[in-house]
Amino acid sequence: MSAPAPLGKPAAMVPDPARAAATLIDGKAVAARYRAGLAERVGALVGAAPTPRLRVVIVGDHPASRTYVRTKARVAGEIGIDGGLVELPDTITTDDLLAVVRELNDEPAVHGILVQLPLPPQVDATAVLETIHPAKDVDGFHPLNVGRMVTATRPAVEDLLIPCTPLGCLHLLGEVHGADGLAGKHAVVLGRSNIVGKPMAALLLGEDCTVTTAHSKTRDLAGVVAAADILVAAVGRAGLVRGDWLRPGATVLDVGMNRIEQADGGKRLTGDVAFDEAVAVAGAITPVPGGVGPMTVAMLMRNTLTAYARQTGVAV
Ligand code: GUN
Repeated sequence: MSAPAPLGKPAAMVPDPARAAATLIDGKAVAARYRAGLAERVGALVGAAPTPRLRVVIVGDHPASRTYVRTKARVAGEIGIDGGLVELPDTITTDDLLAVVRELNDEPAVHGILVQLPLPPQVDATAVLETIHPAKDVDGFHPLNVGRMVTATRPAVEDLLIPCTPLGCLHLLGEVHGADGLAGKHAVVLGRSNIVGKPMAALLLGEDCTVTTAHSKTRDLAGVVAAADILVAAVGRAGLVRGDWLRPGATVLDVGMNRIEQADGGKRLTGDVAFDEAVAVAGAITPVPGGVGPMTVAMLMRNTLTAYARQTGVAV
């Protein structure tokens, strides 16, 4: 029989210096497995049904955005989805971009449309996102899809178009905690963007977590983070979350993709969490890169196939 836990603080709250470092959540490997499953399903369509088609619209030449969209198109191709880019100049007007979106809406062979954000300041991004047909909205950013997600009960979430990064985070949490392992956990979401923070909070609530959304005006951020069984950091500030903010054993998902200039002039990708500190305290943690990022792309492919199945009636 094992020795009884010492009196005082619950055992899980006592940092143990001899304790192994956190489990690394290998998003790259999880995403690769997920993509392989999708590729198999798409492979079964060949010759029997139309090819799923995704169009990724990129405006201008923002270097990070260009890298992201190239990855999206490449991964689509690897799965068997026709994933072409629509490249537009950064001087484009809202009306001209809306015309491009309407053309894609009206093209029956296109099943998914993504307009990469951010858009240049002269473009009304809200108008663009509201013009993408909700059935082709593989980002899940159209207000109709956002509303469906927020009002859905958990099983119904399976069939919806849901923002890719939070959906990827949910999959990773499933890997760590099991399909039904999130109920009752205190999840803290840092950041309230429409792309990550707000949908993440809604999805975690759907999993019966107790959810706190913290942001730039939150008082005592460290104190809020200390209460988290699950932390999702999505604020875009390199190393904001320090190791000693974390509850020992917490699960930490780092959505940050901050490009930090190096002494040699190069750039290094780093997250919102001070990884070297956090890895000694957390129970499980995603690295940057190789954590949440690959899951975002995998979930885009999932959404594209969800959109395809709904539009064509072909099960995939
Ligand atoms: N920019 C950063 N993340 C995203 C995303 O998930 N979708 C789109 N369309 N643009 C982004």
